[in-house]
Amino acid sequence: MAKKSQATWGGRFSNGPAELMLRFSESVSFDKRLAAFDIAVNRAHTAMLRHVGLITAREMKAIHRGLKEVEAKIEAGKLKWNPAFEDVHMNIEQALTKIAPEAAKMHTARSRNDQVATDSRLFFKFATDSLVGLLERLQRSILKVAEKNQNVFIPGYTHLQRAQPVSVSHHLLAYVEMFSRDIKRFKQVNDDANWCPLGSGALAGTTLPIDREFVAKALGFVDSRGRQRVTTNSMDSVADRDVFLDFAQACAVCATHISRVSEDVILWNSAEFGFVELPDAFCTGSSLMPQKKNPDSLELLRGKSGRIVGSLQALYTMIKGLPLTYNRDLQEDKAQVFDSFDQLGISLQVLEGTIAGARFRADRCADAVSDPGLLATDLADWLVSEGVAFRDAHHVVGALVAKAEALNVPLDRVPQEEAVRIHKALSKDWRVVFDLKRAMKAREGIGMPGPKQIRKQLSRWKRAYAVR
Ligand code: ARG
Repeated sequence: MAKKSQATWGGRFSNGPAELMLRFSESVSFDKRLAAFDIAVNRAHTAMLRHVGLITAREMKAIHRGLKEVEAKIEAGKLKWNPAFEDVHMNIEQALTKIAPEAAKMHTARSRNDQVATDSRLFFKFATDSLVGLLERLQRSILKVAEKNQNVFIPGYTHLQRAQPVSVSHHLLAYVEMFSRDIKRFKQVNDDANWCPLGSGALAGTTLPIDREFVAKALGFVDSRGRQRVTTNSMDSVADRDVFLDFAQACAVCATHISRVSEDVILWNSAEFGFVELPDAFCTGSSLMPQKKNPDSLELLRGKSGRIVGSLQALYTMIKGLPLTYNRDLQEDKAQVFDSFDQLGISLQVLEGTIAGARFRADRCADAVSDPGLLATDLADWLVSEGVAFRDAHHVVGALVAKAEALNVPLDRVPQEEAVRIHKALSKDWRVVFDLKRAMKAREGIGMPGPKQIRKQLSRWKRAYAVR
């Protein structure tokens, strides 16, 4: 069962780990995607060791040359990842030592605890940049569809009941607001990741004369003015997983937004609404029912959000009971954030493709928005401008709605003699409010769906995302 003693930490062991333990404890199968960051950290760390005189220039050069070779091998898919070496860090070190025996000095003054914390922060800087890029692409697509549909109006809903009319643009611009907050959140995570923990050692630093600021600078852990940023408590540095939580949280909020957008569009796409037609490229058919064209991309987006929110929950549960500092439980943190990153990344692209190809059906939208009930509130406002108190106005219009229902006529077709019987203010021409153009023009305050306001918001966002 037991193997010969472990290659890197096996000094105090007479027997190696059981086969089962190796399979159970390895992380290289998933943390190998940190390889590029690990190599960058190795490069910077050994440059620092040479800078402070802990290794010679010749040794550093040999290690750097070796790292280049290992890097090329990994990129070509030719490095054989060995679970017996546990993780990406030890696999790279072992492969390197075979090429350059000088690498036996590489792990001087560091631990895998500060190493994995540093690799992860580099990963988060990369991942947040890449998600921000995808979010910006999505924003541009939404803006283009919003611009095209400024004159298409639909009912806006509360409680999924027809409420008040809005333009398709106004509705889509709500999504732009949501995703712009996601961009802000990911930029904040990027900034919080931008502190270098290397040099914290296992938990209490090192007795060797290292230069932490040198490493931070070499790895790009610097502020906007180029000043190095290093973490300031060695125990916190190796135990802290806030950036994992913040990243997973930003992913969860964004996925939740994606899910809500998807639900809107799924509804709009149903025969009952019929507001939108989805591109074939992002729909699928039924194996049984020949007429079906299902909005699978949107349904999967809604489903994936559950998985992404779940990753956040898994992280909280894993971290909350851990004593300081590092505990092996933490090895499980990476699987969660990698999955959040992958699923959110592809989700953003799929949503972008689906929205870019969506076509609003002006006829069906016009039909739905012609429901005069959508302007009942405008009628109450009209009564207010005629001097009726709002609470009374609300009642008057409510009575008018009830009368329309009883007579089975649209709200704007209640006979005049019935209307005046409800309130004398209705002796004037109250039907002027049942005009969509008038209704939209009346809503030009900041954030409202009036056409001028929409043009203003559109051009603001187009400037923000460099849409021509
Ligand atoms: N693979 C480990 C992880 O991701 C690296 C740190 C291991 N440290 C240790 N003391 N065993 O957590």
